[in-house]
Parts: sequence; structure tokens; C-alpha cells
Amino acid sequence: MRKKIVILTGAGISAESGIKTFRDSGGLWEGHDVMDVASPEGWAKNQELVLNFYNQRRKQALTASPNPGHLALAELEKDYDVIIVTQNVDDLHEKAGSTNVLHLHGELFKVRSTQDESLVYDLDGWELKTGDLCEKGSQLRPHIVWFGEMVPMMETAIEQAMQADIFMVVGTSLVVYPAAGLLDYVNSHIPKIIVDPNMPSIRTSQSIKFFTEKASTGVIKAIEYIRSLK
Ligand code: APR
Repeated sequence: MRKKIVILTGAGISAESGIKTFRDSGGLWEGHDVMDVASPEGWAKNQELVLNFYNQRRKQALTASPNPGHLALAELEKDYDVIIVTQNVDDLHEKAGSTNVLHLHGELFKVRSTQDESLVYDLDGWELKTGDLCEKGSQLRPHIVWFGEMVPMMETAIEQAMQADIFMVVGTSLVVYPAAGLLDYVNSHIPKIIVDPNMPSIRTSQSIKFFTEKASTGVIKAIEYIRSLK
């Protein structure tokens, strides 16, 4: 039977594709206080600013290509049952060819109704404007999980993590919950691997194989290690 590998990824896996991580840029996100652009309060205060912020993120993501880290994870599907749980809102895992991607914090290229959150639409291109409405006539907003909002995909992610035969973490500082807590649900006996040039904040006492490297090279070494496991 094919082994199930669950992989939690964060901003670090997209860094070498030119998409900036949040915490490496001095706490400001492209020059903005994160609460102004990624919270319900920020949206209530200045909708134009938030729309424009995500329009710029989409423009940037449209020109970005997956790097060897994304590509190696997609390749892994040939031999393993792979589930990627990503905190990233970009689509670089999909562009690389991964078919099983769970976006914990939403997706840049989807938008949803401010009136009925079940009305989610694909956005063509990069621009969402004031006056773009859902079928019920309400303003559309980015389909992003903002600070202070529920993480609806978390339950599915936990179920997957509990069933993992191998668990891997790539490029996340593990400071934002509930995503950071996923490691706590993993069976204590399975191999756990982290790829990150810096040590993320882990609370677990479980033994972890650590590759202190950038994703482009570290993921490839981590996969060699996984393939060497009996
Ligand atoms: N390869 C791998 N990891 C890298 C690389 C790289 N080239 N460059 C940086 N990193 C690592 C950093 O060492 C850090 O541990 O990526 C991590 C990035 O951490 P954060 O910026 O905190 O990103 P992330 O953990 O994904 O943030 C979680 O917080 O900003 C919010 O909602 C947003 O989903 C995001 C969440």
C-alpha cells in the first residue's frame, strides 16, 4: 500500500519564487500593518486598501513560477499518497502539478460574497473592485482567512494529519494557530521532517529530522531521506 505523506507548507516554500514571507520582512506586509490588510476590522475601515492589497498580491502571483521545492513535492505523488496542507494563498503548488492541496488560509484567485460565505467564485485575472457583486447583490471580498476569522479547513487538515505515515513541514515559522498546532495531531511514532533555514518554534518533544536549508535544496534532500525509509 502507498504511504500517506502529509506536508504542511508556509510562506518559506514560495520565497524563492519571489513571494515575500511575512515575518522575514520586519512585521510589515509589503509596507502595511497586517491588521490593516488582513483582518475584518481592516476591511471595515478601508475596503479600497484591502482590495488593492490583494489585487497587488494576485498580480505578483500571476507572474511567479513554482521553484524546485514545489516541483519536487508534486513529483512525490508518483510514489506516495500526498496531501499538501498549505498556509499559502498563492497557487504555486497547483502550478507545480500537485493535485491534493488544502488551503488553510484561503486562495488568492477565489473571491466570495460578504453576505453568504458559501458563495465562492473563481476570479479571472487579478482585479477585484468595489462594486463587484455576488449573485445576491452583495460586495465580493477576497476568499482569504483573515486574522480573527475561523479556519474552516482545519478539521479536514487534522483528519489528514492523524492518518499520515510521514509528516513533513516546509517553510513555516509555526507561530500562527491553529495551523501551527497540526504537528500535535500527528502519530508520535511516524517520521517527522522539517525543512527551513531557521528553526521554527516547535513545542513538541517528538524527534524530528531537520534540514536547515532553503526549500529548493532542502525539500530534495528531505525526499531522498523519505525514500530511504523502510
Ligand atoms: N525556504 C524554506 N523556508 C524559508 C525560506 C526558503 N527559501 N525562506 C524563509 N523561510 C522560512 C523562514 O525561516 C520562516 O520559518 O519560512 C518561514 C516563514 O515564516 P512566516 O513568514 O511566519 O510564514 P508562515 O509561517 O507561512 O506564516 C503563517 O501567518 O502571515 C500569516 O496568514 C499568513 O499564512 C500566513 C501565516
